[in-house]
Amino acid sequence: MDVHESLLELIGDTPLVRLRTPGDDHSARLYAKLEYLSVGGSVKDRIALRMIEDAERRGLLKPGGTVVEASSGNTGVGLALVAAAKGYRAVIVIPDKTSAEKAATLRALGAEVVVRPGMLPIDHPDQVVNTATRLAAEIPGGWMAAQYDNPANPEAHYATTGPEIWQQTEGRITHLVCCVGTGGTISGTGRYLKEVSGGGVRVIGADPDSSVYSGGDGRPYFVEAAGRWRHPETPEDCWPASFHQEVVDEILPVTDRESIMTIRRTARESGLLVGGSAGTALAAARRVAAGLGPDDLVVAVLPDSGKQYLSKYFDDGWLLRLGFLDGDPATVRVADALTDGERARPLPYLHRHRTVGEALAELRAREAAGAEPVLPAGPAPVGPSRRPTAPELVGAVRLVELDEAVAAGRVGPDQSLDEQLGAPLPQFGGGESAEQALATLRSAPDATAVVLHDGHAVGLVTEEQLRAALGRP
Ligand SMILES: Cc1ncc(COP(=O)(O)O)c(C=O)c1O
Repeated sequence: MDVHESLLELIGDTPLVRLRTPGDDHSARLYAKLEYLSVGGSVKDRIALRMIEDAERRGLLKPGGTVVEASSGNTGVGLALVAAAKGYRAVIVIPDKTSAEKAATLRALGAEVVVRPGMLPIDHPDQVVNTATRLAAEIPGGWMAAQYDNPANPEAHYATTGPEIWQQTEGRITHLVCCVGTGGTISGTGRYLKEVSGGGVRVIGADPDSSVYSGGDGRPYFVEAAGRWRHPETPEDCWPASFHQEVVDEILPVTDRESIMTIRRTARESGLLVGGSAGTALAAARRVAAGLGPDDLVVAVLPDSGKQYLSKYFDDGWLLRLGFLDGDPATVRVADALTDGERARPLPYLHRHRTVGEALAELRAREAAGAEPVLPAGPAPVGPSRRPTAPELVGAVRLVELDEAVAAGRVGPDQSLDEQLGAPLPQFGGGESAEQALATLRSAPDATAVVLHDGHAVGLVTEEQLRAALGRP
């Protein structure tokens, strides 16, 4: 019989498919490795199985034990699936930006899901990895998979992904392109392919453009699970032990917009529905292939399916709200209400660790200049002129509230603003209709909103400016 006795036999062994994009005029062959066809739906099934079996062998995970992990979803799903198949309990800690589909999948597989804010510095006790480490220590029989530092992560790819690609291409692969999250995929697969080819395979990382791996400033981005961002208040960053940098020849930065537009186009033009980090890998792989000839064969590893992101990258409303779509040019859009001068200046906002006295002075100066006495607030940015990413703006500071707090003696002018942050300002994508934005602002407490372009805050817009752009009195 052509049957499998265990679900675990259906992990990995994924196909390679040729990708031909209309308009591409290079002669190199580009193949995609479809990791979403693994039984749990992602590249992470491979490491889940390997890490659990390794822990069993070492006696770290025993019958009745609990698998604990911090995961943006896919590793959690892989672990929950293997744990269910083997009879373990699973507790998965996820950052709050994880897509709703991934969180629902974890719960459906019987895992207990713990959600923590994604926007915390690395040494904060509630940060996702710190939360998981604590839970693993507290739960009797708990074992933390620790994908970022577990050698079984790259080993899984050295033992399976690498050999599969070598056999499937009959040793003809010349370039490997992968995203780098924990670094497990690129390190294990890349190391195997380099060894077996005698150094003939070039290994290229594909990275969100602000990720620190490709030299970015570490500000957050919207492609999930790839790259490494760094909270501005994280004092010193330490790269994961699962990432073996010496295996990687080059890392190419790819913007969120390019990753997202690549998967939308690939879905429509080739019928291949893949996730955001697959878009990062595909965009980089196309760039690599463009400079190559007919003897070259590029393999891009596509980590998961687009079905997990239907409410994000494939949802026009989500894209419009974050400023990834430019909106209908026949209507007045929110961005039309900003002047060229406002677009050129960095967004005015308050660093959460400045003093109450400084904030009061700034808000009074705004009021005197006729502007709304309210400003968005967030962590200090890494570079002086960089624009914050939407999720970094975690609150707002309002003159009335601050004055009240000082008058009531709840805070002094030399104290930090941090405890005084009020609810964040509304945010609009620059391509959203100015009419609709105006209607929303009318019922909001402040007459001011933040305008986003490609997920970054680029300016502040007031009710008055929107009305002027619409030609209303
Ligand atoms: C969707 C997705 N893309 C990319 C990656 C990065 O892979 P790796 O952690 O092996 O570097 C992951 C892993 O978390 C993932 O889930």
